[in-house]
Amino acid sequence: MQPTSSPPEHLILHRGEEQSNHVRQTVAQLEPKSLRTYTPSLAVIQRSAGCYHWTPEGRMLADFTSGVLVANLGHNPGSWWARLLGYLGLDHPDFAQPFIPLVPLTSYNAATELEADACRRLIDLLQSQPGGARCEQVLWAASGSEAIQKALWCALACGGDEPIILATRDGFHGKKGLAGAVTGNEQSPERDPRVRFISFPKKECESVQARRQPLDLEPYRRELDQLWQQYGSRICCLITEPYLGGGGSYHPQKEYLQLLQQFCREHDVVFILDEVQSNFGRTGPLFAFTHYGVEPDIVVLGKGLGNGVAVSAACGRADVLDRLDYGACSDTFSGNPLACAAVLATLDEFEQQNVLEHAAELARVIEKGLLRLTETPVVARVRGEGVVWGVECAPVGNHSADEVANACVLACYQGDPSGRAIHLLGPLAGNVLRISPPLVMPLDEAELYLEAMYEIFSTLGENLRG
Ligand SMILES: Cc1ncc(COP(=O)(O)O)c(C=O)c1O
Repeated sequence: MQPTSSPPEHLILHRGEEQSNHVRQTVAQLEPKSLRTYTPSLAVIQRSAGCYHWTPEGRMLADFTSGVLVANLGHNPGSWWARLLGYLGLDHPDFAQPFIPLVPLTSYNAATELEADACRRLIDLLQSQPGGARCEQVLWAASGSEAIQKALWCALACGGDEPIILATRDGFHGKKGLAGAVTGNEQSPERDPRVRFISFPKKECESVQARRQPLDLEPYRRELDQLWQQYGSRICCLITEPYLGGGGSYHPQKEYLQLLQQFCREHDVVFILDEVQSNFGRTGPLFAFTHYGVEPDIVVLGKGLGNGVAVSAACGRADVLDRLDYGACSDTFSGNPLACAAVLATLDEFEQQNVLEHAAELARVIEKGLLRLTETPVVARVRGEGVVWGVECAPVGNHSADEVANACVLACYQGDPSGRAIHLLGPLAGNVLRISPPLVMPLDEAELYLEAMYEIFSTLGENLRG
């Protein structure tokens, strides 16, 4: 088959963006569209610093995504880079000379001092948190879904014949392998006969106001009891997220997670908490398990762990994680020195800068600004905590809520009359826009851009009403 030179149907172009459009054309031609989740702006990012991206045309976009909750410390923070390069020995004056022995980039089936240091530091940090006592070992991986997969492999190995995994319905744990199997619900394409889904109180936490009401735990308790009666000790583990992130930003009442943990403890079921997106300050504390009042057997970390360098880890009980034999969880990149140096630099920054204190103030600004958006016709409700929020769009005129959400992303990218433009990702679960700026966004800048968002959404609402 000859390569096609005509523009693909899904090509996204924007007027007045010649250089960006050239990039858009090339990737549309040479990469399958499945590589990205649909985002109508398809921003082309040439440079990034702090809370901003710049396009090749020099337009500045305020980043309200942190990549996808990755750059918690902002993009390219100078002190983080300096630490990372220091860990790799690249602050050496002669490093560009040939044959200077440096830290290797690959250490497959060997071990490095960086890896040992990163394990020690991560375990010490987790164990120093309320609820982190069970974190005894680190099982490295290179992406969130791989760490989930490894955690589930280990938990399955603790089960007997025909093990069953419980997972909260409509969650998101990744797309690959077992991570895909515990994502979504009974209708998901990656159905795995070992997985059973349990209910998550979405309706009860669909807005900030709803979440303030106490949760009736009885139906959830009954469902768990019924599953235990049906499957008994075949149930080897239960996996959930502190909140449904990719599933549409549903942050449950704390007692829901505590009920799940109680069930696990009563029946000796491994309790796995997926903190791939909530870790490193998103919900307030360093790890969400501390303020949800639970103590997971395994906590899975990713995204913000490397602030942009690909690294993830399942941290938990040694008797579970150390169940499998040599090779079962090995792969080319897990625990590689670059990843470990990034983890160490991230831990240093959180230890030595006042990131969480600032994030707590930023959280208040974000909450106030987002609640105001419900005054605009395009927003139905908002929900979230800390610096991770979902803005659920409403249908307007004859436009569906999903169409409105995509129009919001585009309008934010195009900006307001004074040129304030905002980078958002395509909506989650159809019509939910995620708001998750870097934790270090200055308060006055957050206010400025939330005001811009309000104006953009108001104008868009009027235009859509026609
Ligand atoms: C809670 C959660 N778990 C797992 C993953 C999968 O991570 P990755 O995309 O790095 O495989 C994600 C990604 O968005 C996530 O939000």
